[in-house]
Amino acid sequence: MGNETLLADKMNTLNRMTLLRIKELHKDMEYRYYIESFGCQMNSHDSERIAGMLEEAGYIKAAVKEEADIILFNTCCVREHAELRVFGNVGALRELKEKKPTLIIGVCGCMTQQEEVAKRLFKRFRFVDIVFGTHQLTQFPSMLESVLHGERVLNIDGAENVPEGIPIKRDGVFSTNVNIMFGCNNFCSYCIVPYVRGRERSRSHINIINEVEELANQGFIEITLLGQNVNSYRSPDSDVTFPQLLRMLNEINGIKRIRFMTSHPKDLSSELIDAMAECGKVCKHIHLPVQSGSNRILEKMNRRYTREKYLSLVEALRDRVKGVEISTDIIVGFPGETREDFEQTLSLVETVGFSTAYTFMYSPRKGTVAAKMDGMIDPSEKKRRLLELNELEAHILKKNNVKFIGSVGDVLVEGYDERDGDIWLRGKLSNFKAVYFKGSSDMVGRLIKVEIIDTTNNSLIGRVVQ
Ligand code: SAH
Ligand code: SF4
Ligand code: F3S
Repeated sequence: MGNETLLADKMNTLNRMTLLRIKELHKDMEYRYYIESFGCQMNSHDSERIAGMLEEAGYIKAAVKEEADIILFNTCCVREHAELRVFGNVGALRELKEKKPTLIIGVCGCMTQQEEVAKRLFKRFRFVDIVFGTHQLTQFPSMLESVLHGERVLNIDGAENVPEGIPIKRDGVFSTNVNIMFGCNNFCSYCIVPYVRGRERSRSHINIINEVEELANQGFIEITLLGQNVNSYRSPDSDVTFPQLLRMLNEINGIKRIRFMTSHPKDLSSELIDAMAECGKVCKHIHLPVQSGSNRILEKMNRRYTREKYLSLVEALRDRVKGVEISTDIIVGFPGETREDFEQTLSLVETVGFSTAYTFMYSPRKGTVAAKMDGMIDPSEKKRRLLELNELEAHILKKNNVKFIGSVGDVLVEGYDERDGDIWLRGKLSNFKAVYFKGSSDMVGRLIKVEIIDTTNNSLIGRVVQ
């Protein structure tokens, strides 16, 4: 057992004792929690860990904020808009606290890992009881205990760790997320994530395999492996790489689908493409953020690949992984982006034909390299470029969707709506395309064979194949 694991074990024992003390304190009444996630899948998955700890302390999930005895906001700061949303939402809790003074309010996550922001929030909102960042998750039980004893807690210290062994209360019942690594070393010049999530650290492949086996036993059939750059995963025990990990997970009985995100183009290896092609459970979809189609801008972004390299990866993927779909992230209006640079992005989008493009206006983040660059683009120009790009993507998507008509594939059904007396199921193909089709509610959580018969603007319409 490595030192890390021993330390984690010791911490978990202490935490469990603290959670039991809180449970004892609360034994005469029901206490409820409400957690809202403002960020990415990593952020939601951290919320599932906090929920796991709260449930171990005897709390139960509240359906709405108004019912809760503790409210936690798990924040994001990747763009300015995300931060402003949190400040607005926290402000709106004042009224609830006035009505119920025993209510505990906490703010955590990436935004409050930034010292200055955490302090500002703590000072401005006196009714907030706990503020902590991303590295203090393992200290949550003791922070909560202090608050229950009447203290206010601001805690943004704490080493970057690999949080093993924390109980997790998962939102899903057949599909769920599994962290394979934490942090990021890439320092793309626009991005705050490495500053608020710390350096890259991978989990042991043994712990990951154990977790996925356990999930399979609990009935989960789809897992999504999470990391800021899964392609640079390396097990600390034995140098197991990401493609090797995929091959190991592919052998686990009960698991039917394996997804992963995110992949950085600079680290996408041909071993990974082989693993995607050869592992039956690994889905035929890759999220491969390109960010820009202009080499000049890619260099300023510190992405460490060129447009040509990206296009050659797309070609290799399509060549070797039959039926693969590629989605992406794109930033418009990066400092110094000219009309010509932007047109390079448009032409790349046209060439590749992404299945989905998540598009963003560049948002300066304090402390990053790009925030100090010359040539900031006017917000109205950024908006114009975003609209133009979105229009093009919508047009391409509509055109590309037609190629699926007549194809047959398995859809993992996520849920349904009732419309005009019919049950309309929704779910995803292996390639991550969304499909809607008529069926019965007992199909939720199962893989159903569907033929695509029509398309809408964003998704596909199918019918069950008997
Ligand atoms: N690790 C992942 C995700 C990072 S955040 C990756 O490397 O792709 C998700 C997306 O947010 C990024 O891909 C990028 O497109 C966008 N993003 C990050 N920082 C941004 C900023 N300052 N302004 C606008 N978009 C940003
Ligand atoms: Fe941010 Fe780049 Fe790391 Fe992704 S790879 S989290 S964009 S620094
Ligand atoms: Fe995710 Fe936002 Fe943090 S995108 S990693 S929650 S800054």
